Amino acid sequence: MSADPVDPQEIEIDLLLEGIRRQYGYDFRDYARASLRRRVRKLMFDEQLSTVSALQERVLHDPECLDRLVLSWTINVTSMFRTPAFFAAFREQAVPLLRTYPFVRIWIAGCSSGEEVYSLAILLREAGLLERCRIYATDLNTAVLERAQAGIFDLRHMKDYTENYQRAGGQESFSEYYSAQYDSAVFDPSLRENVVFSQHNLVTDGSFNEFQAIICRNVLIYFNRELQERVHQLFHDSLCNLGVLGLGSKETLRATSVVDRYTALDRANRLYQKRS
Ligand SMILES: C[S@@+](CC[C@H](N)C(=O)[O-])C[C@H]1O[C@@H](n2cnc3c(N)ncnc32)[C@H](O)[C@@H]1O
Repeated sequence: MSADPVDPQEIEIDLLLEGIRRQYGYDFRDYARASLRRRVRKLMFDEQLSTVSALQERVLHDPECLDRLVLSWTINVTSMFRTPAFFAAFREQAVPLLRTYPFVRIWIAGCSSGEEVYSLAILLREAGLLERCRIYATDLNTAVLERAQAGIFDLRHMKDYTENYQRAGGQESFSEYYSAQYDSAVFDPSLRENVVFSQHNLVTDGSFNEFQAIICRNVLIYFNRELQERVHQLFHDSLCNLGVLGLGSKETLRATSVVDRYTALDRANRLYQKRS
């Protein structure tokens, strides 16, 4: 009896992912396959290797190649007040709910280099809430977390970010929040006084606190169905009753087992409240 033929490259990719998991503990097996395939090919090109097996050999024997792989496979694209409508909805719908707590814990999962974190900190400061909030900003990739901790962004982006800030309902002059130094915008360090940046892998790590709000945008789209389901369970378990979940317009709760356990605060921006 002969088995259905499988593309040998798919087998090689499986072996590569298994090897990375066993050697380094990073588990990419449940990332969405089509985009993972593209990223494997891109890394092979960058490393000037012609087969996935050759990539596997290099990664398993060279931790620096693993660092390059993590950088290349975790898509870190982000911006300040990205999708301004999300922040406007958060300001209108979530902030009044968060105001009812004496102390507010917010988890931003997959925060990349921190632009989203500083945006939220600005929004909360303008709402008079930042002082009683603690923001836990996590990502798998430690290189981007270091940039987030520094809070220094490219000055050339500030024009676009100012527009985003205004469209998000910003109430001040955006330039108040940073000082220009050469080509950089150095953000006011007091914005991150109540922020804890730390590594957290949504695939392998569990809950680490109970939160009044969780924001996770443009991350789950890179995961397959099973992994999305697992992460949604994690978020549901980590939210307090009536806590807020912000997914942004690219993600959805549809087809997950937790869909009935939330009510929508803003459908377009996928802002939900956990049912009690
Ligand atoms: C496209 S960025 C989104 C950044 C930000 N949330 C936004 O919307 O602008 C996706 C981020 O998810 C992170 N990521 C990917 N897999 C992850 C995982 N398993 N656990 C935690 N973060 C992960 C990546 O490192 C990357 O910084």
